[in-house]
Amino acid sequence: MGYSTGNIIVTTLHVICAILSVGGVAFLRFVALPFSESLSDEEKQRFQLTLRKRFVPILHTSFLLLILTGIHHITRLIREGMTIPTPLIVKIVLALIIIFIGIALTIPKGFEGLKNKKKSWLSFNLLLATIVVYLGISVTHG
Ligand code: HEM
Repeated sequence: MGYSTGNIIVTTLHVICAILSVGGVAFLRFVALPFSESLSDEEKQRFQLTLRKRFVPILHTSFLLLILTGIHHITRLIREGMTIPTPLIVKIVLALIIIFIGIALTIPKGFEGLKNKKKSWLSFNLLLATIVVYLGISVTHG
């Protein structure tokens, strides 16, 4: 209650980016990757290349906007004199872990250990995202 239109717009952007990144990862983990396993090596490579080209810019832009809108939220809460509650701190730390894993899995070079277990790390990220959404909503609806 008592949110300005500007704050509602920033929160809308925050939630849309959460939907795009978490929804995209769920689609990747449970639909696209299992489907790609039924393809021949050549088809699989082409399919994964197309996925990467289309999805990675959406994912990285969503991550960037989540961080920027998140920082906006925090500065607003501090300006309003609110002490940051522990669940919000836990939420932000978990969100940053999700973003780190997401970037590590999608940058062209490095983190081969993580990339070799991509499906497990995507599932782990989805589990963390469930907790992050719960904590985000519990902070605003508490
Ligand atoms: C995977 C990444 C993230 C997801 C899925 C996510 C999700 C959410 C959701 C669902 C809410 C509740 C919105 C509402 O009910 O009004 C929320 C609120 C919030 N998020 Fe995030 N978020 C993420 C990343 C971040 C990051 C990186 C930051 C900080 C840099 C951040 C800071 C905040 C803050 C401060 C609030 C509370 C806003 C308020 O009290 O009005 N979030 N988030």
